[in-house]
This record gives sequence, structure tokens and C-alpha cells, in this order.
Amino acid sequence: MTSSSHQTWGGRFASAPARRVQAFTESVSFDQRLAEADIRGSIAHARMLAHIGVLTDQEFNTIADGLRRIDKRISAGDFEWRTALEDVHMNIESALTDDIGDLGKKLHTARSRNDQIATDIRLWLRESIDELAANLAHLRRTLINLAEREAHTIMPGLTHLQVAQPVTFGHHMLAWEAMLARDSERLAEVRARVNHLPLGAAALAGTTFAIDREMVARELGFEHVIDNSLDAVSDRDFAIDFANCASLIMTHLSRAAEEIVMWVAPASAFIELPDGYCTGSSIMPQKKNPDIAELIRGKTGRTNGHVVALLTLTKGQPLAYNRDNQEDKQTLFDLVDTVGASVVIFTDMVSNMQVNAENCRQAAKLGYATATDLADYLVRKDVAFRDAHRIVGNAVAHAISAECDLADLALTTLQQFSPAIESDVFDVLTLEGSVAARDHIGGTAPSQVLAAAHRARERLSAEAPAA
Ligand code: ARG
Repeated sequence: MTSSSHQTWGGRFASAPARRVQAFTESVSFDQRLAEADIRGSIAHARMLAHIGVLTDQEFNTIADGLRRIDKRISAGDFEWRTALEDVHMNIESALTDDIGDLGKKLHTARSRNDQIATDIRLWLRESIDELAANLAHLRRTLINLAEREAHTIMPGLTHLQVAQPVTFGHHMLAWEAMLARDSERLAEVRARVNHLPLGAAALAGTTFAIDREMVARELGFEHVIDNSLDAVSDRDFAIDFANCASLIMTHLSRAAEEIVMWVAPASAFIELPDGYCTGSSIMPQKKNPDIAELIRGKTGRTNGHVVALLTLTKGQPLAYNRDNQEDKQTLFDLVDTVGASVVIFTDMVSNMQVNAENCRQAAKLGYATATDLADYLVRKDVAFRDAHRIVGNAVAHAISAECDLADLALTTLQQFSPAIESDVFDVLTLEGSVAARDHIGGTAPSQVLAAAHRARERLSAEAPAA
């Protein structure tokens, strides 16, 4: 190495990269986040090199001890990251050589930064997925608890944002839970595809050493060894997979957040959020705004953008590794951070919300939500559904001009619209009667909501806990 060239790859260079080039190409400012995974991968690699006789056992022990010391220094914040060394890999390798001497230079035998970085990201992402999965499970548990608590609370069910039919608040909570349950399932599928080992692919074609990739995979907990070396170092489809999954979680949270925003608005006031989960206005002293929900909705724009970023990053790349791939990291880190924080704070927010049952009920009562129940009633009295629909439409129009609910109309008035209507009609016109009548799997009857909450809880506890 000449003093003017790069410490690790400068042999064929007469001069070091220009300052601006260094600043442009470095990744250590962000990929230092992979340090722990990088060190774990290096120890597994070195152990395997000793196993196949490329290192002695003594050499392995010295290298592994040195790496562990560096790991401790990094977690203690006692490590100087140097931009001139480009990335996390070369910073750690260089620190190892400073610490244990020339032996440190043997560590990079039979590997490349190309298979090393692919391994690091997969290790890191696998752990991030496990953490996210646990937080998502906690959110689902919270929603199931809420569903049970509010199984009898009646609120307007909407289509086109118009009052459609009464539902229970608990039923609504279980709809959110169902979306997130599929997200948990997707996350587990993505984890399985992330959990493949690229190490051993070296730069792109494999290595001339008789490496034992299965041994490395076992130590690092990878389920499979990636078969093709060109593929192993180059594809980032696992990152795209995760991004899809993460942005779908955000999309689901965003829909729920939008409903929270509507529910806290004074016009509906279905729920109340504690002061600690709202923020105020700098000019309007009376304001209490649902900013957490709005921020979740807003951050979804960013996470959806990350999906497009990763797809576009990958689409033009010929085999095998290209430096473009370095751009996957900030995107992935931001996805993990944003989705993780959103899931946790959303859980806090909904577990602290108060449901105002009376306001919910009132809103359902205002919208002729039991009109379909009256039509169904007429069908049971042998009126064809289309005719029943028209009859009830006429009755609703009458109630609107009389400024009252269907249930407030006198029996004789109702009978003007159809002689099939009898005094038992009032049972189906109540909100409670309406929800109780939807008494089948997937229906909003309180008994069904409680049964569904029970099934959801069973499903949740049957899911494999994070490895
Ligand atoms: N910082 C690089 C990345 O994130 C590591 C691999 C660099 N490999 C190379 N041949 N320059 O992808």
C-alpha cells in the first residue's frame, strides 16, 4: 500500500479518491448500523475458515476475540468511524488489524464485500422483522381486547361515508385486526425468504477455497444457502418483499388513522383521546388535534415511496453486484424505523382511547340505519325484495319529511306503505335488534363479535412466536 492510495483496495491506484468522491461514495455514515450483524457474520466466516484449515484454531480465536472487543467498543460508543474507510466492513476490518496485527488481514479470505453486505442486511432485516412481528401481535391483542370491551357498543356502519347499517364498535375493531392478521402472515412469509445465506458467493462467482456454506448457515441461523452465486450477491428482492409488506401495514394503519381523525372530530365525537396523545395549536387555544393519527397517515406516503425506490433501484441492474445496491440501506432503515414506531404508537393511542357509546349510538340512529332490516322483515312476510326495497324507500322519505326515525312512525302510518307490516315490526327497527339479527359467522351481532374475538385470540396464540 502506498500512503496516497486506499488502505484496503488501493494496490492498483496511484492516488486516493478525491474528497468529494469519498463523501459521495461512503456508506459508513449509515451502514454502521449493521456493525453487530457484520461482526457476527465475520466470526461465523472465520470459524468456517478454521474448520476447513485455511486458518488455525489459534488464529480463529484471536480473530474472534478481536472482533468481540470491537463489537463491545462499538456498542459502548467508543469507536471512531472513518469515512476514508468507506463502509462498515472496512472500518471493522481495519480496526481488527490495528488491534491484533497482520492476522486481521486474513479475515477477508474467501469472501467479498458483495456477499458480506448481502449477508449483513439479511441478518439485520431478519431481526427487525421479528421485532416488528412482536409489536404487530401486541397491537392485534390490543384490538381484540377492545373488541370484547365494545362488543355491544352500537355505531353507524358506513358505505360511501354515509350511514348504512348499524354495527358494533367491537366488530369494527376486529376488521382492523383482520387486516393486520394478514400482515403478520405476510411478514412471516417474507421472513422465510429473507432467511437465506448469500455468504460464500464471494464477489460473484464463488471462491477457489473449499468453503463449507452449510456450516456458516447453521451458525447464523439461516434456513437455506442461496444456490446461485450471481443471484446471491445481486438481487434485493427480499428487501422489496419487505417494503411491500411494510407499506401495506402502514396503509392499513393509515386507513384506521383516518377513521380516528373522523371519530375525534367534534361533529361525531365517537371517541376521546387522552391529552397525552394529542397536540395543541400555537394560535388557537381551544384546539386538541389528533396529530399522531395524521402523522401515521402522512408517513404512509413516504413508506409507499420506498417500495417504488427499491423496485426502481433494482430494475436496471445487470448481473451481478453493482454499487447501486448500496442505496437499498437508507430506504430499508427508514421503513423499519417508520413502521416500527407507527405500530407502537398506534397501539398506545388506541389502548388509551375512550369510546363515547352514546354519541356512537346517536349517529347510528340519525341515519335510518335499520331501513334494510325493515326490507328484510317484509321479505319474511312474503314481499319480494325489490318491492320491499321500494316500500321502505317510501317510508324513509316520509320519515325524513316528518323529521323522525322509522321507529318513531306510528304502526298505522307504516301500514300505509305496506299492509304486510304488523306490530312486531318495532323489534327489527331498533338498533339493538338490527345488530343482534346479523347472527352468523362474520356478522356484527354482539354474540358473534365475542366469538370472533375468541377465534382471533386463538389464531394469534397459534402463530409461531418469533424465532
Ligand atoms: N457499501 C457497499 C454496499 O452497500 C458494500 C459492498 C461494496 N462492494 C463493492 N464492490 N464496492 O453495497
